[in-house]
Amino acid sequence: MEPKREHWASRFGFIMAAAGSAVGLGNIWRFPYLTGANGGGAFILIYLGFVFLIGTTVMLAEFSVGRMTQKAAVGAYKSVSRSWTFAGVIGVLTAFLIMGFYPVVGGWATAYVVKSLTGLLSDPTAIGDAFGAFISSPVEPLLWTVLYMSFNIFIVIRGVGKGIEAASKILMPLLILLLISVAGYGMTLPGAMEGFRFLFVPDFSAVSAKTFLAALGQAFFSLSLGMGCMITYGSYLPKDSKLPSSAAVVTAMDTTFAILAGVAIFPALFAFGLEPASGPGLVFVVVPQIFAKMGFIGPILSMIFFIALMIAALTSSVSLMEVVVAYLMDERKWTRRTAVISTGLVMFLFCVLASLSLGLWSSWTIPVLGVGFFDFFDILTDKVFLAIGGLLLGVFAGFKIKKEDLKRELTNEGTFHFALFEAWYFVLKFVTPIAIGLVALFGLFDIVQKELMVFGLIVIGVTALFSKKF
Ligand code: PFF
Repeated sequence: MEPKREHWASRFGFIMAAAGSAVGLGNIWRFPYLTGANGGGAFILIYLGFVFLIGTTVMLAEFSVGRMTQKAAVGAYKSVSRSWTFAGVIGVLTAFLIMGFYPVVGGWATAYVVKSLTGLLSDPTAIGDAFGAFISSPVEPLLWTVLYMSFNIFIVIRGVGKGIEAASKILMPLLILLLISVAGYGMTLPGAMEGFRFLFVPDFSAVSAKTFLAALGQAFFSLSLGMGCMITYGSYLPKDSKLPSSAAVVTAMDTTFAILAGVAIFPALFAFGLEPASGPGLVFVVVPQIFAKMGFIGPILSMIFFIALMIAALTSSVSLMEVVVAYLMDERKWTRRTAVISTGLVMFLFCVLASLSLGLWSSWTIPVLGVGFFDFFDILTDKVFLAIGGLLLGVFAGFKIKKEDLKRELTNEGTFHFALFEAWYFVLKFVTPIAIGLVALFGLFDIVQKELMVFGLIVIGVTALFSKKF
């Protein structure tokens, strides 16, 4: 007999879990440096356009497909059409690849909670070198990754309601409080206005096709879309829960957190005369430098900031793990325990590759692709798999599932009216695939990693060929 499917215990719990998945390193670590490197307000404007037009649409589609089929990524596609199984498999693969670098950064955040209080901030000029030395050392960052991964395993092994939902219900409200306190302090500093100007006044001279690709990739990454994560979370929803408002709330929360992270960082950054565009190190170098200049309150705020970063990352990486675990449970009939432990081990091995690629192996790159493992996992998922995954989902839900079935699912069998249904359906079926296609096409001419794009397409093709095996 099939074991009974797990479900969220409450709507609040589901929203916290889904927002927990969405709000993560993407908001606090990645959004600020992408904004810094892509012209500030102009990037934010394009990003918001993608989030509200395409992001909410795809999220709602993922929730519906998940709840309709009561299956995680692979099973959801498969139960509608066997030849679409590959789209779910790409999702599971993407979860593995993101988990190949995400817990490494989660480990850095965990380390910085402690380092904030143990002398990191005593010499602001040494913070950059200290970060470089830390992430390139062979063992120390991996020990922090192990600790961080063990938090993930602890939560996911307890299951949907008692693990993921229970943790998110505590961690998400805590995250809001922590970030607001850091942002609030930064806003009061003299010179903070410059930071607001940078964030909110668009400068279109920095915009190119690359900016659009970056904004689209970021929208998918940040909202946890394009790889079946929200399909999986949707599959644990009870039939009476309202999907459209849930998708709206989760998207709004995710966006609020990204802006809040920007407000926590940029006003203070400008107040202390630091440089906005400093790449992925922004959060681990510039932010501690800001705190180092604040006197006695600095280490405490820094600790709060990194606890927030770690919490945000944790509620996201548990969702990435759940995508794989749910596949193994649904399709392979593994127990949760076996699935979690084996998945955790493989993911950790990927993390070892990613972490070493920043130090010991930093001069080695993958032949032909020209990048190390960390960048390989990051760029391949963010720039290729998530966008293509979103495109596939749009085509699948728009053309493969019957419109009436979607309508019934979205209105809980017609028990309430969803006024935007036609508009949503149009965006899903036509605007989403065309917009993603255009961005990918123009981005292709503009990005440096063309080889990775081609590699990604080959992987998708091969997966499609072998999809019967899953
Ligand atoms: N949304 C997460 C973040 O912004 O950090 C990352 C992520 C989680 C991506 C889950 C994809 C996913 F399925």
